[in-house]
Amino acid sequence: MEEQIKQIVSQYYSAGNIDSIKVLNGRAIITLVNASENPQTAQNIQAEIEKLEGVKKATIIYTANRAFSGLKPAEDMWQIRGVKKIIAVASGKGGVGKSTTAVNLALALSNLGLKTAIFDADIYGPSIPTMLGYEGTPPSSLDGKTFEPFVNLGLESMSVGTLIDKSQPLIWRGAKACGALQQLLCDTNWGDVDVMVLDMPPGTGDIQISLSQKVKMDGAVIVSTPQDIALIDAVKGINMFKKVNVPILGLVENMSYYICEHCGHRADIFGHDGAKKTAEKMGESFLGEIPLHYSIRENADNGTPIVFAAPDSEYTKAYEAIAQKIIQKLRE
Ligand SMILES: Nc1ncnc2c1ncn2[C@@H]1O[C@H](COP(=O)(O)OP(=O)(O)OP(=O)(O)O)[C@@H](O)[C@H]1O
Ligand SMILES: [Mg+2]
Repeated sequence: MEEQIKQIVSQYYSAGNIDSIKVLNGRAIITLVNASENPQTAQNIQAEIEKLEGVKKATIIYTANRAFSGLKPAEDMWQIRGVKKIIAVASGKGGVGKSTTAVNLALALSNLGLKTAIFDADIYGPSIPTMLGYEGTPPSSLDGKTFEPFVNLGLESMSVGTLIDKSQPLIWRGAKACGALQQLLCDTNWGDVDVMVLDMPPGTGDIQISLSQKVKMDGAVIVSTPQDIALIDAVKGINMFKKVNVPILGLVENMSYYICEHCGHRADIFGHDGAKKTAEKMGESFLGEIPLHYSIRENADNGTPIVFAAPDSEYTKAYEAIAQKIIQKLRE
């Protein structure tokens, strides 16, 4: 299959432009490097690939995006090589859907043509490996001194979870956890990544503050469910980032509403518009809402998040609309 795709792409671009070809679940992702971007050519290639048996959807991703190049990190911060922009996905409160939002936004950013990585910084309960369907320790590079990132569903990724025995409760504290995070972030051979999405651990404690100070973050996306109890913690999260001068890109309302599949009735299970109102009150942007739906949970649990599994669904469109706004803000 990969060979057939390669032949199709080679009619338009040289073999040296093909960075990678991945086919999973009928979805083909072709990453091109240093290739001159042409929407019509991309469409033609996609259409040809979609004629192949076993391919439902093909996506061409152009990398080496010039818009984000030429940025230098500050000296005293962790030097994360090969990554142009870093955004944190955070919330004050646990369990509001940070990781689900982070992974789907990363896939949406990738769909929109950016070479994207996701870093799972949650030392308390890493979930990105499950959501992207991998496990095991990260592969070392040839020199044995650095790590190679995992590459799944078109995303480069790394997780503190790969260093932790899943059956053991995690009792890492302070410096130790920070050291592991630094090592994984700085000693991984990221491959010319346009945007890295950082899935933050819940809360606003020492680890979260150190991370926000040590990693040069270009912005934070705050996830909240609509009810007051979550919003109080979202405000704490916003204030933490402000204290360390990380710009707030905006708020996302997750589990915003539920549409019954049988009767179409809409239920605002946790209330509605809470995050929008909080954003307004705090003078921050509201990036969008994601409904509560079992397919979002199920697909994340199965290692193929909804943006990958159902590229044409309304949920994917909602994530892509938020990703668009994020890209716009990063370019401002
Ligand atoms: N929009 C949604 N619709 C349905 N289920 C969702 C949605 N968002 C998240 N979930 C589910 O809610 C649970 C918690 O989500 P997730 O793990 O992303 O939260 P989190 O904020 O990262 O949690 P933690 O604070 O533990 O890291 C998961 O089972 C996830 O599949
Ligand atoms: Mg999480």
